[in-house]
Order: sequence, then C-alpha cells, then structure tokens
Amino acid sequence: MANIYVGRQVFTCELNSAPIIEEDVSKAGLRPVKDWRAFGLHGYPGFIFICNPFLPGSQQYWVKQCLKIYPRKPNVCNLDMHMSSVETENIWEKSIDVIRRKGCGKGEPKTLLEKLRWVTLGYHYDWNSKTYSPDHYTPFPKELHSLSHKVAAACGFPGFNAEAGILNYYRSDSSLGIHVDESELDHTRPLLSFSFGQTAVFLLGGTKREDRPTAMFMNSGDIMVMSGPSRLLYHAVPCIVSAPAGNMLPPCLGQRLETEVQDDDIIQSVSEEDWDVCSWYLQTSRVNVTVRQVLASGQTFPDSQASHLSTDSCEKSEEGKNKKRKSESGYERDT
Ligand code: OGA
Ligand code: MN
Repeated sequence: MANIYVGRQVFTCELNSAPIIEEDVSKAGLRPVKDWRAFGLHGYPGFIFICNPFLPGSQQYWVKQCLKIYPRKPNVCNLDMHMSSVETENIWEKSIDVIRRKGCGKGEPKTLLEKLRWVTLGYHYDWNSKTYSPDHYTPFPKELHSLSHKVAAACGFPGFNAEAGILNYYRSDSSLGIHVDESELDHTRPLLSFSFGQTAVFLLGGTKREDRPTAMFMNSGDIMVMSGPSRLLYHAVPCIVSAPAGNMLPPCLGQRLETEVQDDDIIQSVSEEDWDVCSWYLQTSRVNVTVRQVLASGQTFPDSQASHLSTDSCEKSEEGKNKKRKSESGYERDT
C-alpha cells in the first residue's frame, strides 16, 4: 500500500487467478497473480490499481518494445503529421546513431526519439474526429495483446480483445490534459494502462470535468484498470515527478531477468546496447501505454462514422476548433 498515496480510502482488491495459468503470466513477464498487490478506491467502483506486478528485469522488454518496435511503420505517430514516411521510418535507428555519435547534450538538436509524443496501434485513433475507423487499422502487436488479455482476465474480464493502443511519451515537463476515453464503442470492456520510467501524478476525477479528483503516483511497472463506472471518468496527468539527482532510474528498471528466457516466452531479453539507449531515454521520460477494446465481440463499426459523430456532444465540436494542434500533440498537453 505504501506505493500509492491517495486522499481517499484504499482497499485491497482480491484478484481471481483461477482463469489464468501461472506459467502463462510468467511468459509475459508477470509475477504469479496471487502475488500481485491490487487496490481499489472507495468511491471509484471498477478502478483497480496494480502495484508493479512485473517480474524483476521484465519491464526492460516492454520498454524496448515501446521505444524501438512500436514507433515503426505501419504504426502511426505524431511525427507523421510533419514529416514524410521516409523520414519517420526507423526512428530508433536514426536516433541511436546520433546518441552514440555525439551524445545528446544540451544545445544538440533533438533526436526523433525525443520528439516522439504518441504512437497509435491497431485501430488508429483519429485525434480530430475522436473516432476509430475500420479503414485505419493495422495488426495489433501480438505480445501486447497477450499481456493485456492476462491482466484483464485477472481483473475479472476474460476474453479481453486488445484492438487499439495509444502510447504517450512524456518528457520531464510534459502533462496530459483532462479527458474521458469514450471513443471506444463498447464501454463494458476495461481500459488498461501500463506505465514505465519516471513517476507521474495521475488525477482521477468524476463524471463531470469540475469534480474534485483524487491524486496518486504511477510508478514504473504500475498498471491501472478502468472498468465499470470508472471506465468513463475524467482523468489527467498534471506532471511528471523528476527523479532525485543520482537516482535517475527507478531501481526496478535496473534489474536483469532472473531466469533465462525460453523460446516460447513472450518476453525476450534486451541487449545491453538497446538497454543503454532505453535507460538514457527513461532517465528523463515516462512512457504510458493504454490498451483498449474498441468493439464488443461480434460488433462491427456503424455503417458511417458520420452517424456516430452526430451523437457527439457540443463539447466535442467545441474542441474541434483546435484540430491541428491536437492531432500533432495527441491529447491536449503542454509539450
Ligand atoms: C490516455 C491516458 C494516462 C497516463 O492515454 O488516455 O489517460 O497515465 N493516459 O499517461
Ligand atoms: Mn485516458
């Protein structure tokens, strides 16, 4: 409980490990479900906070996927808004060249990795229309689907189908504006949120923008599940908490895997070369991955997205005025 600091009463959540084969969770780099420390918050039914359930060393794999693999084409990222697909190809390779050649001291032009703000996976979220569309879909990463499926099952949602992902890349001065994730068509399915790197302050609000929020820290490895009535609550990330000098990476990220990976494991070991770049990046950054099921099982998209849009609230058309800025920066945010 020490890991989460909240103004309202926290209670321990009993998760159900029955639907999950323990061997399976360890393949995704997770501890046995019975060892997870999961909490609920009085007043927020359906909200579950899991304190870093990852096995020592396994976060490194997920971090590497977020920095090296998921920004690759055909996934979509903020840099695509300004640059050609040739320029935004191989963001990792182009960045590490610079990082290794001359370092990234102050005054150096920023690498593409440092300019990355968001990546979308699966059904690519359209920041302007605030919709997903069947016409803009690329395969969702299998390993992230599998991780999400296991976490959701442990939280009482078997059969979770990860169809869309939004990765947010936070530098130490980034923030994320207040919003509700309501574009998915099936709100009975949970929204999963995975955090890596520097700690963030997370504000969980109410059903109205002005409702007083509850603040908590999200540390590296922590997972949040927003389900039931909490699925549609306002929330925001007002700031990233800078690591104290000399202690730039959370200790759980410095750990190496305790056992050799097996061929059929989902997670794979990360080379020292790759980890050097990841740890350099995370010394001043945070990566958050939200995974969403967009459609109910068997559901299809409505014939025209226009009919979906016509149900939108005035708040959304109001926000449409800021289209350009938002498509570049993702959610309303400062950097
Ligand atoms: C989101 C989101 C929160 C976070 O991507 O929808 O709310 O912790 N992210 O970064
Ligand atoms: Mn959100």
